[in-house]
Amino acid sequence: MKFFIDTANLDQIREAMDLGILDGVTTNPSLMAKEGIHGDERIRQHYVDICNIVDGDVSAEVIATDFEGMIREGEALASLHPQIVVKVPVIREGIKAIRYLSDKGIRTNCTLVFSAGQAILAAKAGATYVSPFIGRLDDISSEGVELVAQIVDIYRYYDFDTQVLAASIRHTMHIIQCAEAGADVVTCPLAPILGLLKHPLTDIGLEKFLADHGKK
Ligand code: G3P
Repeated sequence: MKFFIDTANLDQIREAMDLGILDGVTTNPSLMAKEGIHGDERIRQHYVDICNIVDGDVSAEVIATDFEGMIREGEALASLHPQIVVKVPVIREGIKAIRYLSDKGIRTNCTLVFSAGQAILAAKAGATYVSPFIGRLDDISSEGVELVAQIVDIYRYYDFDTQVLAASIRHTMHIIQCAEAGADVVTCPLAPILGLLKHPLTDIGLEKFLADHGKK
């Protein structure tokens, strides 16, 4: 399972890289705005800065919602850096854009996915990644992780190449549940990743080992 970090914060990206477990980055317009990154030029430069920190894929989202606009933006984003994956929303024009971009060899991440049907269309269109948003489903009393498992089953059944990228992960348990469901990638902020490390018996055990080592 790959770990992506879901942030546009360069310090957090560096920190995750430093841990040695980072496989890529996902961003969205809200995450860019949260870091105070505004305007096309500034946003594009920020994507390049992120690519220069990490080795893996970096998702960069289109803003247009019409086919022509999406492919224009998608081609411009893809030309910024070989690590860029163009993030496209799962709407009618988006599916057309994903087909167009994948036929041109441009990798895509189909985003804002909340149903198995949307995930099937993303795979049929040739998306590199599909992003089910599990936390936002949980927010409306739906089981987000169940959607991840359902998509994984369908993709395996038909041998689709599209990778299941579990997004909108809010806590450490989501990561474990996505791993059990067979997600190819999880993307989340740094805190839930660091949460995987926590266990009181590890802390107690280490404290005792160090104390015993000091004894004569
Ligand atoms: O990048 C998309 C996704 O991970 C958003 O997460 O927490 O805003 O639902 P969240």
